Amino acid sequence: MARQSGHRASERSGSGTRRINGRLLARLIGEAPVERPYYLAIAHSVSGLVLDGRVPSNTRLPAERDLATALGVSRNTVTAAYAWLRDNRFLESRQGAGSWTVLPGSATGEPSPFAPAAEHIDLGVAAPPAVEGLRAAAMRAAEQLSAHVGGLGYHPYGLPELRHAIARRYVERGLPTTPEQIFVTNGAQQGIALALDLLVQPGDEVLMESPTYPHALDAVRRGGARIRTVGVTPQGWDMEYLVDAFRQWKPGLAYLIPDFQNPTGALMNDEERRVLVREARRAESHLIVDESVTELAIDSGDLPTPVAAYDTDGRVLTVGSVAKLLWGGLRVGWVRTTPPMVSRLMAARQRFDLAGAVLDQLTATHLLADVMRIRAERSRQLRRNRDALLYALRERLPDWRPSVPGGGLVLWTTLPQPVAGALSTAAVRHGVHPAAGPVFGADGTLERYLRLSYTQPPDVLADAVDRLAAAYAETLAHPVQPRGQLYV
Ligand SMILES: Cc1ncc(COP(=O)(O)O)c(C=O)c1O
Repeated sequence: MARQSGHRASERSGSGTRRINGRLLARLIGEAPVERPYYLAIAHSVSGLVLDGRVPSNTRLPAERDLATALGVSRNTVTAAYAWLRDNRFLESRQGAGSWTVLPGSATGEPSPFAPAAEHIDLGVAAPPAVEGLRAAAMRAAEQLSAHVGGLGYHPYGLPELRHAIARRYVERGLPTTPEQIFVTNGAQQGIALALDLLVQPGDEVLMESPTYPHALDAVRRGGARIRTVGVTPQGWDMEYLVDAFRQWKPGLAYLIPDFQNPTGALMNDEERRVLVREARRAESHLIVDESVTELAIDSGDLPTPVAAYDTDGRVLTVGSVAKLLWGGLRVGWVRTTPPMVSRLMAARQRFDLAGAVLDQLTATHLLADVMRIRAERSRQLRRNRDALLYALRERLPDWRPSVPGGGLVLWTTLPQPVAGALSTAAVRHGVHPAAGPVFGADGTLERYLRLSYTQPPDVLADAVDRLAAAYAETLAHPVQPRGQLYV
């Protein structure tokens, strides 16, 4: 715990909590910018990184001479860039303690309320920072507003240009789609909740994977449905069991995540997709297919065809989102379905929400025009992070059995003992937050599993695994005694 209290001490002294070295910052600043004077180009680039969240606030920047060496410029240039950042409230410095980033407008000397808590590494949340270019896209969106402000600003089906961009992306992926089939929501979760609202009555059977995405589980529970589960592992779905589940239970609806399943990372192949839709048709079930992380392939190789491509009678509702590809702060998701169902979704939405934000939708539209570059950037980032996390786990916790997901943001690891709950509690004391297996199950099982997200950079992940290893050793040293069963 020495490390943790060290972090706390540095936090109190305001000296920043994470560090970024000169080489890494130089890489994020990128190729020699054309803007002159050069110190301003560096300053603008660093302020952009802070605003985009790619360098979080409270990050300690390298010493001036280290950044100067990494950039191949004179120290004076970096001194001037840091001075500009200080003047513009992106940087605070203290003699002997260095310089750390802040968000302009946040209280000086205090960690920003948006900064990740210094002594706490959150591996429970699978949300990456914004992609490069978000700020530029938002600025373009703001410039375009003049074309919109004369109108009402309410687009209950979604902004037409965004519906177009989303439909076009399905066409590129091999699934013919018109903009009239796209209903834009405030995130995928809203799409899931609305679809459930229309398709599930209290007491209905809903088929879900175990483990699965907890907020979908919650939405189904709150709708009063009866949850039936089929198992999925990092190796995939037991198709015989899945077919049997449709035939026995004839669920009114099934919710599945065939692409880099959350949390196992499993990817359903083409034949399995065909069988899934065939069985849903036989059982007269609707299917919600959650494609929230579809665009986040890490390893090369063609992705299977979207499940909806096997649909012939409008029973598949595909839910998508820009949250993981672009940024969770852009609350833009959608449902792809038939035009009549789009109208029903729109009517259902009006009970609690009338439309999405125009600015967010314009920003998402711009970024989607660049989807291939963004996919490549995400894939590089995630491969680096995933491999760093796997390496650290192999070194420090060799008897854990982590999945090696081919995409998505999380890995699912098997523990040698069923201690996920106790370990998570101990882990929080060590300043790291994993997600315990039972969170992803319908019935409190899955104590042998943890989900770990790899959205943070390699050095943070290595630190997180050190803390997990300490928490694990503590958990094994003080096992929770199973309570004796009493039958009366
Ligand atoms: C499988 C899955 N579905 C839906 C969501 C919710 O996405 P959004 O932020 O777009 O509402 C998430 C977010 O973690 C997810 O992992």
